[in-house]
Amino acid sequence: MSTKGITIEGRVVLVTGANRGIGQALVEEALRRGAKRLYAGTRQPLAHRDPRVTPLTLDVTNAAQIQAAVEKVESLDILINNAGLALVDDLGDRAALEQHLAVNLFGRAALEQHLAVNLFGTYGVTRAFLPLLTRSRGAIVNVGSLSAFAAVPVLPAYSISKAAAFSLSQSLRALLAGRGVKVHIVLPGPVDTDMSRGLDIPKASPESVARAIFDGVERNEEEIFPDPMSASMAESWRSGAAKAFERQNAALVATAPVTA
Ligand SMILES: NC(=O)c1ccc[n+]([C@@H]2O[C@H](COP(=O)([O-])OP(=O)(O)OC[C@H]3O[C@@H](n4cnc5c(N)ncnc54)[C@H](OP(=O)(O)O)[C@@H]3O)[C@@H](O)[C@H]2O)c1
Repeated sequence: MSTKGITIEGRVVLVTGANRGIGQALVEEALRRGAKRLYAGTRQPLAHRDPRVTPLTLDVTNAAQIQAAVEKVESLDILINNAGLALVDDLGDRAALEQHLAVNLFGRAALEQHLAVNLFGTYGVTRAFLPLLTRSRGAIVNVGSLSAFAAVPVLPAYSISKAAAFSLSQSLRALLAGRGVKVHIVLPGPVDTDMSRGLDIPKASPESVARAIFDGVERNEEEIFPDPMSASMAESWRSGAAKAFERQNAALVATAPVTA
């Protein structure tokens, strides 16, 4: 973390999954911080009171929609890959839980669904917007999950997809450093949104998480730990062997070998 991060004021920001939860909070927080333009990627039509918000129809699994979105965006400073899928169910009933785990959550179809959104969605949107981000020497912010660090066994397919997206973020960080594009990965614990509605545990508010995400970008934190549960792991991660090994591996990369 040697260089300064990107300030939000005056920047052009794109958020996927912008209609609810953390994505919606990110839009509001970016506006509050003086972003110049907010591209709000959603699957359903979105209306917003602020004229700085430009809605984009964007299912991150739809290559044609990604391409159409790229053609509508003139310039981009910060891409936030926030859209995410976690297939959860009523886990209250033990028999239902066992059936669910065996058949649904860890079936191949569930794995493919999670990978399609959480890994390939992030990958596809990032590739498509890379030329614009390279031009602006901008930043990619991938909203991951603490389940990338340690799998949540009742959400195996989700955890696998988030671990894969974490690894993608590490490689992109090293590969894009030569182009001046920064890559941040956000590692939230439980956040109070529809996704974790059924979990009866302490959760951070999406608004506080959105603030912490932009604070982390502005401070140029490679990993952003945006809530009390994740923040308790920040120090040990940053000073730990795995982070040192990531840097060692990153040093193997010659500058800018990736083609968009
Ligand atoms: N909530 C948590 O506890 C928690 C913890 C750690 C990490 N996260 C991560 O935070 C991110 C945001 O989650 P959230 O908590 O805000 O969940 P959420 O309230 O369920 O919102 C998910 C968002 O992703 C969008 N989305 C899903 N599939 C999509 C697709 N194929 N294309 C485009 N958009 C799609 C949804 O759009 P629709 O409205 O059209 O479905 C919605 O806007 C996710 O990446 C999630 O994994 C959440």
